[in-house]
Amino acid sequence: MGVWNRVFAAAYDPLLAVAERKGLAAARRSLLAGAYGRVLEIGAGTGLNLPHYPAGVEPELTEPNPAMAKRLRRRAEFTLASADDLPFPDASFDTVVSTLVFCTLPDLPRALTEVRRVLKPGGQLLFLEHVRAEPGSRRERWQDRLHGPWRALACGCNCNRDFLGALPGAGFSATEVARAEWDFMPALVRPIVIGAAS
Ligand SMILES: C[S@@+](CC[C@H](N)C(=O)[O-])C[C@H]1O[C@@H](n2cnc3c(N)ncnc32)[C@H](O)[C@@H]1O
Repeated sequence: MGVWNRVFAAAYDPLLAVAERKGLAAARRSLLAGAYGRVLEIGAGTGLNLPHYPAGVEPELTEPNPAMAKRLRRRAEFTLASADDLPFPDASFDTVVSTLVFCTLPDLPRALTEVRRVLKPGGQLLFLEHVRAEPGSRRERWQDRLHGPWRALACGCNCNRDFLGALPGAGFSATEVARAEWDFMPALVRPIVIGAAS
């Protein structure tokens, strides 16, 4: 576990504090209002979604990064696991939750396939993710140019990833998608898409 990884994990909650206050926390709450049945959260990080689950929903949490997990442990029980190799049987969950995770996964198609495997037929993936900017836009060019340094700085985060474009390849179709242009998030990690896929 590298030093920068530990620093990033220690700084994560303070770094997000302003964004949480300005709208991210409200968006988490509104997304999670749709969680039902048996719920799995992948890449739970430090546990910032936990206060926003509806009463009665008790999510299973997974997180692969020991530095983030150290903080998550203070808030909840969890399983140390990567989203591309989930230690759960097929068709185990009604809802899988991912917030700001698919940007960081090393193998997006593999992780989506794994999420689909653990979802019951008719189950849903609830997501809040930053995505690649509009094709041909100035921001898209900057995302491609600064992808390397940003990735090193933000512990593996790919700012130019086409998350929505990858859904059909894993058998998902997005049933609801809202786009947010939050000026309280760095320009490289906008727009944000918030929605559900099944
Ligand atoms: C930007 S943080 C988001 C944390 C949390 N979901 C949130 O909304 O605050 C990205 C998270 O994805 C996790 N992550 C990285 N690689 C992963 C993988 N292969 N499987 C699952 N999660 C992963 C990181 O450890 C980190 O906790």
